[in-house]
Amino acid sequence: MAQQGNFKSPARMGGLGESASASSSGAVSGGKPREDGLKGVNFERRSFLGKVVGGVGAAVAVSTLYPVVKYIIPPVKEVTNVNEMVVGKASEVPENTGKIYPFNADKVIVINDNGKLTACSAVCTHLGCLVRWEDKDNLIFCPCHGAKYQQTGEIISGPQPLPLTPYAVRVEGDDLVISKA
Ligand code: FES
Repeated sequence: MAQQGNFKSPARMGGLGESASASSSGAVSGGKPREDGLKGVNFERRSFLGKVVGGVGAAVAVSTLYPVVKYIIPPVKEVTNVNEMVVGKASEVPENTGKIYPFNADKVIVINDNGKLTACSAVCTHLGCLVRWEDKDNLIFCPCHGAKYQQTGEIISGPQPLPLTPYAVRVEGDDLVISKA
């Protein structure tokens, strides 16, 4: 069965070749010379549109790349270095609990053991996990590899090489104040 509308048919291609032979002046036989074909094209408008499209493209590229660059290069965090700081309210650490606060570049756990407040670094000296207060065992525990510390940061057992850095803590009015020991 013959195929209808086959654009690659040799008969059709031959026909096109005959009627669309190009001349050396750039004009297509039966058509206008190239120069004539460009008459009436407003090049100023074209270049303006080109600039608009380029500008939109640049804006899209910047808005796409900016979050990627911000993700790859995190902002430099300004770390404070003070001797003491009000970190919160005393009521935030009820009896027999512990709570972690940022203090300068460190994180400090404040422990309220039956009304007695103590504080030490909350960053385990083994591999840097955050510790927690285990009130039932009356010790500081690291959930990563089982390091155990006394309430004041001294080592009880585990893989950690050093005790936790001790801090001083006091209540002023309602405020909880941590200071370097
Ligand atoms: Fe704490 Fe390993 S990080 S025990």
